[in-house]
Amino acid sequence: MCGIVGYIGEQEAYPILIKGLHRLEYRGYDSAGVSMINAKHDLNIYKATGKVAALEDKCAAEDTTGNIGIAHTRWATHGEPNTVNAHPHRSQSGNLSLVHNGIIENYKTLRTKLENEGYTFCSDTDTEVLVQLIEYTQKSQQCDLFTAVQRALKHVVGAYAIAILEKENPDQLVCARKGSPLVIGVGTDARGHKEFYLGSDATPIVEYTKQVVYLKDEEIALMDRSGKLEIINLSNVHQTPEMHILSLSLDELEKGGYPHFMLKEIWEQPNALRTCIRGRIHVQAKDVLLSGITDHKEKFLNARRIIICACGTSWHSALIGKYFIEEAAQIPVEVEYASEFRYRNPVIYPDDIVIAVSQSGETADTLAAIQLGEQKGAFLYGICNVIGSSIARATQSGTYIHVGPEIGVASTKAFTGQVTTLCLIGLAIAKEKHTLSDEMYHMLIDELQTIPDKIQWTLENNQGIDQFAQMFTYCRNFLFLGRGYNYPVALEGALKLKEISYIHAEGYPAAEMKHGPIALVDEEMPCVFIAPKRGMYDKVVSNIQEIKSRKGKIISVVTEGDKIVSDMSDYTFVIPDTRDCFVPLLAVIPLQLLSYYVATAKGRNVDQPRNLAKSVTVE
Ligand code: M6R
Repeated sequence: MCGIVGYIGEQEAYPILIKGLHRLEYRGYDSAGVSMINAKHDLNIYKATGKVAALEDKCAAEDTTGNIGIAHTRWATHGEPNTVNAHPHRSQSGNLSLVHNGIIENYKTLRTKLENEGYTFCSDTDTEVLVQLIEYTQKSQQCDLFTAVQRALKHVVGAYAIAILEKENPDQLVCARKGSPLVIGVGTDARGHKEFYLGSDATPIVEYTKQVVYLKDEEIALMDRSGKLEIINLSNVHQTPEMHILSLSLDELEKGGYPHFMLKEIWEQPNALRTCIRGRIHVQAKDVLLSGITDHKEKFLNARRIIICACGTSWHSALIGKYFIEEAAQIPVEVEYASEFRYRNPVIYPDDIVIAVSQSGETADTLAAIQLGEQKGAFLYGICNVIGSSIARATQSGTYIHVGPEIGVASTKAFTGQVTTLCLIGLAIAKEKHTLSDEMYHMLIDELQTIPDKIQWTLENNQGIDQFAQMFTYCRNFLFLGRGYNYPVALEGALKLKEISYIHAEGYPAAEMKHGPIALVDEEMPCVFIAPKRGMYDKVVSNIQEIKSRKGKIISVVTEGDKIVSDMSDYTFVIPDTRDCFVPLLAVIPLQLLSYYVATAKGRNVDQPRNLAKSVTVE
């Protein structure tokens, strides 16, 4: 989704802004823009459709000087992606420029009011309304920009993160947030001058400073060239900036020799999961230690039900979590699409636990789902990757998955991190509830610790997928089939393939296939079966037979050494043996590689697939 970068200090702003926009490219966007105030007090704005590189080309012959500036990547919501609709937007007098992430719900009403006051608009966006409203407030109430922003935002309904420049005052940068994140970096330049960086996440900031302030909802910040940082909220109360230290490193944001972030992140999974597990398992005692659960032990012991809300890949990991928590901890678990849950007046009891699963921690629907849980008095738990994200802050307890930044739009290591975390949570609750025998509890903990090595084995023993994938670039459809714990893996395999290769794919419970989808099967249809020698193996073998007799192409994920399914298949991927509940952590690996290699063979932009955004901050 949209990204914001800002800078005020003694350095030239433009190179910092452009680098920051490149760092934010992973979020997905369709146009970009930048605005600086030069030494002559000109407020320059340049915009381009397409990639940041196109903006750089456009700026090459322009005046990009100035040591204060804002920049933006736009993912179109209101109005098509063109240079008029791209940000920054300029106010009518030309005194202000503004960038915005989020959606202003009452923009039509505000626009009509401003038109009645003589304001005209050149774009189709809700954002232009904001910049005109702030200018109107500033002029009509004769106040400074900081005050005008605070007063104007009281009339705004919706979500926003904004940054504003004022031509007449190049010594101050103002920003504000509600429902869309903003991070302020506080740095010191080579000559010891204090400087401020701004980002819609920490990625454009981390190479300059580790000291950050996460702006809270309904806060407005003023960054002054003198080094002063002032924060006020919509209710006019001054706030003390809370300083945090970033744990993110620059290396984590770079490709490290891999052609794409997605491939890097697939191969990072063994180490990512070691980090995810580290400190949560007491190796000698064979015990799970999750403070997020033990600190709220009573809530989990008395929970009537767990409701997990999530979207996309996170929804798939939640489904695996449901199977595991129900089996291990004997608590009913419901898994909900956050976007459906939030609007359908669901029954939520005060003794329910609502868990939000979200890699970014910023997904608008998931955030709204937990807010609904909060209104009904449920206990809120977050499973996020991004430290300090909105969902992590909005929940009463939680567990970070700690898999490091995920830059590729297609979620890979976050999926396995979420599944691992949900398994740890299931084990932690089971321990409190005594729903597993000691023997089973210790055996599952032992087995979970072997998973990183088994993923490494899986990566190393399925190296031919790049060649094999070439054969499937012509395909228009794919079916992914699995049962039990592997049904969500089938869903995830299908989502991965469709989002980055643009091949239509469906995931299905293998036994459901004969109730409809089997009609699609012919010699052109690749059917991917997740068929480990575990659980419902014999049943899956029968399902494969049904497809084979209709001449479908069989691709299977099998346990190392399996002969029966391998012999029935046109191609097999191998995984080591593990407990049923942990098979998804291994079986998903070849499916991630398959989608990656099919997509790259088709020449797709796997890290930034069309129309998709990394964190979906609009509903
Ligand atoms: O940040 P979240 O986990 O809340 O994001 C949810 C989905 O938008 C995300 O998983 C999406 O489906 C990915 N592109 C899948 O690869």
